[in-house]
Amino acid sequence: MTNPLSTDQLLFFRDNGYLVLRGVLDPALMAQARDSWWTAAPETLKRDDPETWVGAFSDSRWTWKYRETQDRPWLIELLAGNATLRAAAAQMLGPELEEAERVRGIYLVFPEGDVPERPVYLHVDQHPFHLGAVAYIDDVPPGGGGFTVWPGSHKRFYHFFRTAYTFNPVDTSQEVREQAAWREVSQQEPVGTFGSAGDVVLWHHRLGHSAGHNRSRRVRQAVLYDFKRTDLAAAQDEPTPDDMWRDWPGIREA
Ligand SMILES: [Fe+2]
Repeated sequence: MTNPLSTDQLLFFRDNGYLVLRGVLDPALMAQARDSWWTAAPETLKRDDPETWVGAFSDSRWTWKYRETQDRPWLIELLAGNATLRAAAAQMLGPELEEAERVRGIYLVFPEGDVPERPVYLHVDQHPFHLGAVAYIDDVPPGGGGFTVWPGSHKRFYHFFRTAYTFNPVDTSQEVREQAAWREVSQQEPVGTFGSAGDVVLWHHRLGHSAGHNRSRRVRQAVLYDFKRTDLAAAQDEPTPDDMWRDWPGIREA
């Protein structure tokens, strides 16, 4: 498969730092992924009784990061090996992408119930990668714990780091300026993604984001993976390039 992304999609990603692709995952593999975590779930959770899902894992912000199956070939095939997604990643980053040995895991966000609304937790991930993917293996309604993003924040945060991909944001001479910009971004209204089983959110590694709060009655079920170019280890500690799209030939061409 070549070039699944339109120029408009590439430009949307450039400007906003994320992009949602609809209906790209394999239904049988999604069913297998849902079954896998349900098989391992605590006995208090009954798959046929949604009332038992409410408030689960409240001591870890209603989140369970299920990693037991992260290196299974079928879970890798679902996301990292998905032909459309690999082609989309290659379209942005060029063809030299790492082969996946594992995905991050199946990340679950349980319904919070009626707890008071809290602010979302804006952050940038600390490990080196290029392109994140959040793959919904079940429907996620609005307010259902979808991946939440601050559009455009990748352009601000990219220049906060002294190195291209590793996490070392604090340069004391810049600290005051950084904090001002951080406050500015955090005052911007974030966008909570949502969609159907099979939809995937692609996002830039320096995008400000948060897990969303799940105010719905469903379990938010997503598989996470990070696409990486094969030159990541060589490039990660280089000084941050002035051109933030240096390693993104497809974005540059668009
Ligand atoms: Fe994160």
